[in-house]
Amino acid sequence: MIRRKGNVYKLDTPNTTLLIGIGEKPQYLYYGKRLTVPGFDYSCVGEAGYGAKTYLYNSSFGGGGAPQLVSSFGTEEHLRESVLVQFADGSFTARFAFVRAKFCEKPDLSPLPSSYGAGKEKDDTQTLCLEFIDEPSKLKLFLYYTVFEDSDVIAVSSALYNGGGKDVSVKNLASLQLDLDGDGFTFVNFVGDWGNERNKTETPVNIGARIVNESRTGASSHFANPFTMLKKDGGVYAFNLVYSGNHKTTAECCYRPKTRVVVGINDFAFDKKLPCGETFYVPEAVMCFAENEDGISRAMHSFVQRHIIRGKWQNKERPILINNWEATYFQFNREKLFALADEAAALGVELFVLDDGWFGHRDDDRSSLGDWFDYKEKTGGIAALADGIRERGLKFGIWVEPEMISEDSELYKSHPEFTMKIPSREPMRLRQQLMLNLADVRVQKYLIRAISNVISETKAAYVKWDYNRKMTDCFGKDIAGGEYFFEYMKGFYTVMGKIVERFPNVLFEGCSGGGGRFDLGVLCFMPQIWTSDNTDARCRTKIQTGTSYGYPQSAISCHVSASPNHQTGKESAFETRFNVAALGAFGYELDITALSDEEKRMIKKQIAFFKKYRKVLQFGDYYRLGDMFNSHIGGHICVQANKALAVASVWLDSRWGYKVDYVRFKGLEPKFVYEVTTRTQDNYLGDCKFTATGELLEYAGIPVYGLLTDRLKESKTNGLYTRTFVIKKVEKKSKAENK
Ligand code: DGJ
Repeated sequence: MIRRKGNVYKLDTPNTTLLIGIGEKPQYLYYGKRLTVPGFDYSCVGEAGYGAKTYLYNSSFGGGGAPQLVSSFGTEEHLRESVLVQFADGSFTARFAFVRAKFCEKPDLSPLPSSYGAGKEKDDTQTLCLEFIDEPSKLKLFLYYTVFEDSDVIAVSSALYNGGGKDVSVKNLASLQLDLDGDGFTFVNFVGDWGNERNKTETPVNIGARIVNESRTGASSHFANPFTMLKKDGGVYAFNLVYSGNHKTTAECCYRPKTRVVVGINDFAFDKKLPCGETFYVPEAVMCFAENEDGISRAMHSFVQRHIIRGKWQNKERPILINNWEATYFQFNREKLFALADEAAALGVELFVLDDGWFGHRDDDRSSLGDWFDYKEKTGGIAALADGIRERGLKFGIWVEPEMISEDSELYKSHPEFTMKIPSREPMRLRQQLMLNLADVRVQKYLIRAISNVISETKAAYVKWDYNRKMTDCFGKDIAGGEYFFEYMKGFYTVMGKIVERFPNVLFEGCSGGGGRFDLGVLCFMPQIWTSDNTDARCRTKIQTGTSYGYPQSAISCHVSASPNHQTGKESAFETRFNVAALGAFGYELDITALSDEEKRMIKKQIAFFKKYRKVLQFGDYYRLGDMFNSHIGGHICVQANKALAVASVWLDSRWGYKVDYVRFKGLEPKFVYEVTTRTQDNYLGDCKFTATGELLEYAGIPVYGLLTDRLKESKTNGLYTRTFVIKKVEKKSKAENK
């Protein structure tokens, strides 16, 4: 809820408070732990009571030092500005003066996706709008702050309205600027590459430094995820953008000292014409405060789960799937697929996903993207194949890569003008393919039709939406170059939005060469995303952990694959592959027809286990048990809301030899008595079964070395030892509970 007292607005979430002082120049007065003592009647203007901020607030003292909500070129500011506009006379100077603050509806950003369900108080105080004006140009700037009743996340967006007589050129419009008093923060971002996504990286934000987290690839990218954090003793701030294209977050610090975070679309190659009388809305940013990183993750998870992910699958248990990609790659036929499906059905799998290679004449990655019709010789008829899969007791799912085109395709022959290409320049081919110009409405219409046909024809229950290259030859005949990236994304969201609306029962999974588009924009349409093409268990301990900082486990797609692993060539024990993958959207991706009976027995047991605990593994409260980036012990525990059940996966990197490690289980109710058991694994030295209070399990922990020692396959563990634990509340009450 947002309340006003005097010239201060108080934005309360269940556990945080943001205070915004209003006056000649609005400023952030406080953002942190919730202020609970009634009354916040100090005034920040003209009174001595509020200390230093009183005079910092007054711009004649060099108000650039005050923690501001917005900044532009042409003021006393010298940090990165949140707004940069070029006027018709060529100048860039704009000084935004505060006009008014009011409660309003949360702005509708469509076709851009945004968070939903903020709830409405009777007096409608969920969204605060602050209006500013650059008087000479009549350019108006609006900032929107939305609070959610049940979430510690605040959504922030901005818009520019051109009320002047001449068109202007927007060079940058950030969604959010957060200025914080002081220095000494550390910026945390999640960087990587294909097959190595979201490595947690920490950089001190020294005075004078500017740290940039950005993507320029056209998508949110493998290289730098839009989720970031800023931390210091006593508190962590986190940021994300509801957008799947080029993004940019900067954190910088000046001598005042003040630390500024600016979040938004990337101003790289960006230049948006804003005609008179028009408004430009940018994507929504989200921010959150918690006392530690675990707190941030749980706040973000719950927000994403409740206010980003939507539709039928939002809270629905996700099916266990088999995907044929690493089992067959392009080399499959109908018989092979049915053989896989027969085996999968017998083991308890629920969904069969037919990956790349079923359309046009696609036998490798050189052809057919765009030809979303059946490769009959291979499939024996895609509709009949889908029926055959269903007859075997599995749901049918299918792979598409709608935004791409192969030059060797019917589509390219009939509509070369659909291609994203610069006239008279040879386009860059990446993975042998070009891209479609989704900024063009004709292309959008074609795609909606083509992909809808695939789903209708196959009656698919699941669609994997892939995207396998970066943008290089950005061009659309009728689109200004500086607007291309943004217009493309609007086209993508239009297409995706229409298809999702047409097929509300279908489960969509996002993908981009693994996890190259793992972001809140995609999650508004597709409830889960393929996390990485790297399925090696050891690598996944980091990739999944990195992803878990900003995204809930229901969105994180994890598969058990073959050993030696196809990406790393390294071996790992079958049970270890399960222990790491058994989280969130779970499945198998290997040739199960080639497995030994022992391995098939293992899969059967694994699937039975996952089904039994699926709800808590997909939707329970998630706590990291360690940080694989800084230590040799990691994993997670997923805890049921009433704390009566938890499942933990513990990972030990053996590089510390015979050191005895303790795992401290988090998130349990201290007073409850729990029975702790290990998931039975034939090849392990020991099992455990004991009872202990939640408090003991968290504070003292348990030694895990023996429980994690693989007896049979010591040489094939790739140095990684893992175990899954089930922690159940027992009926017997502890004395404390009885009180
Ligand atoms: C990249 C994806 O990440 C893989 O899972 C697979 O679908 C291939 N594309 C298919 O080309």
